Amino acid sequence: MTRHFATLSRRLAIASLIAAGAGLPPAAAPAGAAEETVPRPMEWSFSGPFGTFDRGQIQRGYKVYREVCSACHSMRLLSFRDLSRAGGPEFSEAQVKALAAEFEVEDGPDEEGEMFTRPGLPSDRFPSPFPNEQAARAANNGALPPDLSVIAKARPHGPDYIHALLTGYEEPLAGFEMRSGMSYNAYFPGRQIAMAPPLGEGVVEYTDGSPETVDQYAGDLAAFLMWAAEPTLEARHKMGFNVMIYLIILTGLLYATKRRLFAAVAH
Ligand code: HEC
Repeated sequence: MTRHFATLSRRLAIASLIAAGAGLPPAAAPAGAAEETVPRPMEWSFSGPFGTFDRGQIQRGYKVYREVCSACHSMRLLSFRDLSRAGGPEFSEAQVKALAAEFEVEDGPDEEGEMFTRPGLPSDRFPSPFPNEQAARAANNGALPPDLSVIAKARPHGPDYIHALLTGYEEPLAGFEMRSGMSYNAYFPGRQIAMAPPLGEGVVEYTDGSPETVDQYAGDLAAFLMWAAEPTLEARHKMGFNVMIYLIILTGLLYATKRRLFAAVAH
């Protein structure tokens, strides 16, 4: 009997996931329910078959990551020199050297067998701010801040979700039971998250005149994290475009050849 219920509730959960994926309006969730809201689809410069990253946007996203998120989140699959590669934020090599040197990186052991820290080098990966998982959990109400290298691909709705999550902190719905130290966020599964709202108006200074709002920071971060998760997106889109051109030319040539051959047959 219990098993039957378990299967049934799993089926229901799957059905509601499918419904969520089909883009039902968020209002479909009854008040107080723990299901998360579906993120609103945004316009991104990188979506579509010919999309490219907006260089300024992912540079700003990096700045917000550096000044806010890197206090808790690592990006272990990314090295500093990736920031100067084509198709990414394209900082200059001198800039990357300076950006890397702002981070403390553990190295060693030295001749006495001791580990030591030194300023980061372009070849280093983005380090974790915590020495180990236990320390990270102890500092974050028991929750582990995930590595952000591929988070934009690891979550359904990727960049839309990241933008929605970062702008989605609200007062809990009436009657919603919150665990201590948690924040209410309609986009997080279960609607309560151990990450306190990390952004606020004006927390990061922009030098290009872009608005210093939570909405702008969240969009810039989502674009930056999308690049981090898929650094070859632009090359892939370009390749797809070249393949299309090639196929179109090939089709023309084949058609011309066919006409010639059949013209000979007809006479
Ligand atoms: C004070 C530490 C702290 C800061 C600063 C912080 N986070 Fe988090 N973050 C966390 C913790 C802890 C979790 C895990 C939450 C949980 O599991 O309830 C988390 C989870 C996340 C998740 C994963 C949500 C999911 O679906 O699992 C994303 C994405 C995220 N943070 C992005 C960011 C971004 C972007 C920034 C910078 C604006 C940021 N965080 C700043 C602590 C932090």
